[in-house]
Amino acid sequence: MKQVQVKAWGEKPECVGVPDPEPLPADSPLIQVRVLAAGLHQIVRARASGTHYSAQGLPHIVGTDGVGTTVPEGKLVYFSAMTPTGGSFADVVTVPKTAITELPSSADPVQVAGLGNPVLASWMGLATRVEHKLVPEAFTCLIIGATTLSGKAAISVAREFGAAKVIGAARSVSKMEGLRLDGTVELNDADATKTNWAAALSADVVLDFLWGPQAASFVEALKPGKTVQYVQLGTLGGRETPFPGDVLRGKDLILRGSGPGAWSFPQLAQESPKMIGAIATGKIQPYKFKEMRLDDIESAWQDKSGERIVFRP
Ligand SMILES: NC(=O)c1ccc[n+]([C@@H]2O[C@H](COP(=O)([O-])OP(=O)(O)OC[C@H]3O[C@@H](n4cnc5c(N)ncnc54)[C@H](OP(=O)(O)O)[C@@H]3O)[C@@H](O)[C@H]2O)c1
Repeated sequence: MKQVQVKAWGEKPECVGVPDPEPLPADSPLIQVRVLAAGLHQIVRARASGTHYSAQGLPHIVGTDGVGTTVPEGKLVYFSAMTPTGGSFADVVTVPKTAITELPSSADPVQVAGLGNPVLASWMGLATRVEHKLVPEAFTCLIIGATTLSGKAAISVAREFGAAKVIGAARSVSKMEGLRLDGTVELNDADATKTNWAAALSADVVLDFLWGPQAASFVEALKPGKTVQYVQLGTLGGRETPFPGDVLRGKDLILRGSGPGAWSFPQLAQESPKMIGAIATGKIQPYKFKEMRLDDIESAWQDKSGERIVFRP
């Protein structure tokens, strides 16, 4: 069968032939899944380059999750394969039974595989990293990095969690048109200290996919005494942010990150049916993915079109 591997950190992934896995005994805690679709997310690239904290050990099997049918039953499932060595870019994967979520037969494998990880960001953040007793019932959610795929998905997810207003922040206001936001902030890309956050200062919860200088700029703009729960999700704007201590002391900020380690895999398994169910039943705005084969991994890796790729083995 085919499998995409990275044999040394820094090398490009390649599609190789490996032996088919042996059938599993019925009482095994593992299950085999024949893969139908697997998404090329940001985290997949980061893990395959050896720069993500969750990837350790070589060879690294590329991919974090996907959709397929169980062997031999043929049930349609979403599966997570985010172990230290991965992965989901293969004809068949072997994963723990606890890592699968059954899907309705009507679910679109490409949508679920492509949106699973982007939705997971805000879903796990809102489900496990926000103290809901401190959030007003009809809360306002600010999404920093609203034009990222995860940010777009977060708009639907925030509403699923009861947000009455969703504000987006991105470099281009025109790219936020049509995203069904209740307000927008245009980020000043050249000088984050000049970003005008006025439209976002009512936010009770922040989902941040950028970090870097915009995060510090937002915190500086916050009104003293306003309780804000800030969930750090991605670092497209920079791995670090300059928070002066006195700025933090002057705000009522609850700052947490969300990712594997911040939440546990049992927590992910608990949320997965609701989270994946929301995608499968169309509660998350669908996205137009570019479909490719595993054999095309080399050109997919170099793809700079901005389109999001889902592999169909
Ligand atoms: N913690 C989690 O559980 C979790 C889960 C999934 C993803 N993530 C993280 O979330 C982040 C977003 O992932 P994604 O896959 O959704 O991203 P993506 O769709 O690939 O994001 C691409 C877009 O990001 C925007 N962008 C890039 N650099 C920017 C900057 N410096 N300032 C403002 N916007 C910038 C650009 O939008 P414009 O061209 O419109 O400016 C670009 O089109 C990544 O860091 C990813 O690792 C975290």
